[in-house]
Amino acid sequence: MHSADLRVSTNGPCTVYPVDLFLISATSTTLQWAVKYLARAPEVQRKLRRELVEQLPNPGERTITYKELSDSKLLPYLTAVVYEVLRVARVANAVNRDTTCDTVILGHHIPKGTQIFFTLGYTQLFESENHRAIADGLEGIRSESSRKGGRKEGYWSADDCTEFRPERWIMPDGSFNANAGPWFPFSLGFRGCFGIRLAVRILALRVFMSLTDDLFRY
Ligand code: HEM
Repeated sequence: MHSADLRVSTNGPCTVYPVDLFLISATSTTLQWAVKYLARAPEVQRKLRRELVEQLPNPGERTITYKELSDSKLLPYLTAVVYEVLRVARVANAVNRDTTCDTVILGHHIPKGTQIFFTLGYTQLFESENHRAIADGLEGIRSESSRKGGRKEGYWSADDCTEFRPERWIMPDGSFNANAGPWFPFSLGFRGCFGIRLAVRILALRVFMSLTDDLFRY
């Protein structure tokens, strides 16, 4: 939940709403979604368990490190499962900002004092190849700084973008592709989530433990 009475000014053209209770519950809520998605996808569970057993040898004889669990090269499918849970669950569906001066967004004049909502969840769930023409059409009216950033990520497949399918993050050679498509569960920019690395690691650890507690020593 954002606290409307706790606004903080920044040096940019916007005021940011800090998050409070949300930080505490976001990781546990995401984990609850992970349980739901994995319970409904036994094939994903089997594939994930196979990767963990093959890539982390000698279970029971040593402790597994955080470094191993957060290594997307070593465990591409575990990383894909965590990213896909965060994509589909959309725990933070939108962020908002107040403009602190007149500004222009995609050619629209936005007066000072306007509250703007940015949809994170909608975009990361639905932005498919069907939106490519719309995005290309906006190219000419994007700000110079936005154009400089370019577009690094691809588009999701229109056929299955709303489904839980970790394979969408996996390249034909089996590696994990962080830029497979739009993904902003932690928002973007300099006020984006401070805890992204910790949250991703906690999620990877909990998913790992839930699937392998009979094999590994903790
Ligand atoms: C799955 C778990 C989490 C999700 C989905 C999440 C998502 C977000 C989102 C969407 C924002 C708002 C960014 C914006 O306004 O642009 C945010 C802000 C923030 N998050 Fe998280 N978060 C998670 C976990 C955590 C954790 C574990 C921590 C701390 C250890 C944390 C620390 C913060 C802080 C400090 C901010 C405010 C940043 C600022 O205003 O400069 N988050 N988070």
